[in-house]
Amino acid sequence: MGVVLETVNVTRYFGAVKAADDLSVQLAAGQTVGIVGPNGSGKTTFVNLVTGYVKPARGVVRFRECDITGLTPRQITRLGIARSFQIPQLYLRLSVLENMLIALAVREQRQWDLWRPLKLPARVDEACALLAQFGFFDGLSQPVSTLPEGGRKLLDVALSFALRPSVLLLDEPTSGVSVEDKFAVMDRLMSVVRQSAITAVFIEHDMEVVARYAERVLVFAEGRILADGAPAEVFANPAVRTHVLGEGA
Ligand SMILES: Nc1ncnc2c1ncn2[C@@H]1O[C@H](COP(=O)(O)OP(=O)(O)OP(=O)(O)O)[C@@H](O)[C@H]1O
Ligand SMILES: [Mg+2]
Repeated sequence: MGVVLETVNVTRYFGAVKAADDLSVQLAAGQTVGIVGPNGSGKTTFVNLVTGYVKPARGVVRFRECDITGLTPRQITRLGIARSFQIPQLYLRLSVLENMLIALAVREQRQWDLWRPLKLPARVDEACALLAQFGFFDGLSQPVSTLPEGGRKLLDVALSFALRPSVLLLDEPTSGVSVEDKFAVMDRLMSVVRQSAITAVFIEHDMEVVARYAERVLVFAEGRILADGAPAEVFANPAVRTHVLGEGA
């Protein structure tokens, strides 16, 4: 399958910290990739670099063969590369539906048209359809603050679908979610990812989650890729076992 997104020799230091050290990664269209690695190993920086939140000091980021290195996060989002953050970016006092309506208004660049009603019927229909894909059928008028963490995480990703992305980068979609809810959240996310045939990258600390949902695992250590391959192969790698899984050296 073709390469949809790639970094070529991308490097970024913060002071003496090598957050991204000569990273060359290719992501194939439709692939589901898990990113693992110790705290501070550069996982979020990788997502920040490909989504324009951090500029590389050296190297190139390409999306479908186009150089997107200098583009702003907003321009990159509009190309169809969506992301989530470690902490969901939601309007907690507004309802589930209102949050989605705002995401759709942003897509239409009409969020500042205060004289236009947010609840246009066509937009409400689209919002409900998108929410239903992520399992939100009722309670749509509840404030987001009443949702459990798993619901907030799902809603956060659902909002990024307003832009109909072809690539989705998720920064710890299950962090803060209870152990019982983790797999339910991932099942839902991954079923939408599969239905939409998009390329999905997720950063994850729970190796059981990675093993279950990723076809390919990238292991980060000190801003570099320590291992890259199928989960079984990567988790059997002695260097990964020592440095990432914390097994005795
Ligand atoms: N904007 C920034 N300014 C200064 N240092 C930064 C910045 N962003 C990241 N770093 C540093 O770069 C290194 C990599 O950070 P990054 O956030 O990418 O790690 P991570 O693998 O996502 O870690 P975690 O698992 O804790 O989320 C860390 O040492 C971090 O402190
Ligand atoms: Mg991080």
